[in-house]
Amino acid sequence: MSRRIRAWSLLSIVMVVAMLLTACARPTPTAPPAERKLEIFSWWTTGGEAAGLLKLFELYNKKFPDVEIINATVAGGAGFEAKPALKARMLGGDPPDSFQVHMGRELIDTWVTTGYMEPLDDLFKQEGWETVFPKGVLEIVSYDGHYWSVPVNIHRSNVLWYNKKVFEANGWKPPETFDEFFALAEQMKAKGITPLALGDVGIWASTHLFEVVLAGTMGAEKYKGLWTGQTDWNGPEVKKALETMAKMLDYVNPDHSALSWDQANDLVIQGKAGMTIMGDWVDADNLAKGFADSGWASPPGTKGIFIALSDTFGLPKGAPHREQTIEWLRLVGSKEGQEAFNPLKGSICARNDCDPKLFGPYLQTAMQDWQKDTIAPSLAHGAAASESWVTMINDVMTAFVTDRDVAKAQAGLAQACKDAGVCK
Ligand code: GAL
Repeated sequence: MSRRIRAWSLLSIVMVVAMLLTACARPTPTAPPAERKLEIFSWWTTGGEAAGLLKLFELYNKKFPDVEIINATVAGGAGFEAKPALKARMLGGDPPDSFQVHMGRELIDTWVTTGYMEPLDDLFKQEGWETVFPKGVLEIVSYDGHYWSVPVNIHRSNVLWYNKKVFEANGWKPPETFDEFFALAEQMKAKGITPLALGDVGIWASTHLFEVVLAGTMGAEKYKGLWTGQTDWNGPEVKKALETMAKMLDYVNPDHSALSWDQANDLVIQGKAGMTIMGDWVDADNLAKGFADSGWASPPGTKGIFIALSDTFGLPKGAPHREQTIEWLRLVGSKEGQEAFNPLKGSICARNDCDPKLFGPYLQTAMQDWQKDTIAPSLAHGAAASESWVTMINDVMTAFVTDRDVAKAQAGLAQACKDAGVCK
């Protein structure tokens, strides 16, 4: 190679390197700003539910005014429409940023063991949540040594709600035993009042009633044993509970399968029905509807038992707006967030340090009961059993509310426990 050619080659290499260096030094074109959005998925659409959720959004936007919140709700009590919709999105690779999910088996079996969630250990440590959430709650949102979701509240499923004015006008007292319940129901019937309002357009409301009757019949320990295989589904207490439930169904509104839980509560508010057995989101419904004459009591046999459930929010893998979602979770677990949300939602804080004075009279009693009662997990709301097991029990209930066939239902329940892999 001639000297001249070599010199030219050297020169071109130098030029290329120089060009590359200038290119690197030039500021890179600015990436489009990440979308400041946050999509929250839930089934909170009724008065008190929506009020609580919107309060959280308001607080979030106060901190992050530039974030557009997408309120992705699918109506239907206990998520009976939302859960299948969520599943379709998650399996289709289209997760919302965060979604409402019940603490316990629903969270762990449906989403954690299947690998859909991100652990939240850093957040729990940063926020000091290991000291403000009760130990039992921390355990239930844990799996494999990690935390998987942030509990925003604690709800109680076993509450008997009644209209105080109607009770006072008739000299009635809330029934403490099933015998008292049926005696009172007869009196109500004689007055043309539906004794028990039920709204099981989603069958979960009947399953809900059944869990309360089960606990009221067999007590907390045996009830808890149902979910671990310790209590026999073929035993006499389950039979008794089904018989009691069948009898109760004689006293419900005939259009129960067309009504939602809050429409059933309307019957109580209007004095058309005497009582309803439903979770304490009824307290929020009453508040939202301006109904101040609501009375509450433990349903028969459940005094001293707190059938608990909790709404939580987690971080799905692939959440489109991860950064904003972490801030959402931080708010959901905070004292400020929980003190604003829960008085409107009819639930108590999952944290230990909320100020009782911010809560209405029912919730103040619930806060005390949560400290002293025996805690048992809710079946209908994801705490006690896996979603597939709950679905099997819902199917048994669907038939039972129509045919009232105790033997068939009991066999179906025993089989469901086997199919769930819990009973032998
Ligand atoms: C429960 C949920 C509550 C309440 C209720 C009625 O499953 O945990 O927050 O919304 O359903 O929809």
